[in-house]
Amino acid sequence: MTRLRMTHILDRVLATLFLFHLLPAVSLAADPAPERVRELVRMVREDCGSCHGLTLKGGLGPPLLPDALREKPVESLRYTVLLGRPGTPMPPWNAFMSEAEADWIVRQLLAGFPEEERK
Ligand code: HEC
Repeated sequence: MTRLRMTHILDRVLATLFLFHLLPAVSLAADPAPERVRELVRMVREDCGSCHGLTLKGGLGPPLLPDALREKPVESLRYTVLLGRPGTPMPPWNAFMSEAEADWIVRQLLAGFPEEERK
């Protein structure tokens, strides 16, 4: 095999690996538009807060503060939000938000969830 060919194959392998790494990150990492952010913040503070506590310190559901979630895999938290936990009171939210939005919520929970804007 010529040296040129080897380089060519290596390039393609690298390009494929690069794309596979990047695509999921890119499609999930986009932040929702500002208006949608306001809706999602209200939903988490009010609807999720009714079980997880208005300050997200826990209630019927466990705390959703950064310290409580830090050790847990982001993927499993995202799917808990989207699909709920069958057999527990945690309901699925996939009728109300996209996967990217659930991912955004989980990232905000891990960073310290924003407060609702005061009018
Ligand atoms: C009706 C009550 C209820 C509502 C509303 C609710 N949850 Fe939950 N949630 C729970 C319970 C109970 C659990 C624990 C389930 C279990 O035992 O595994 C839970 C678990 C979770 C977990 C996993 C926590 C962990 O430590 O593994 C996340 C994340 C979560 N909820 C996020 C949300 C979000 C975000 C919302 C709103 C979009 C929401 N929940 C709304 C009751 C609720």
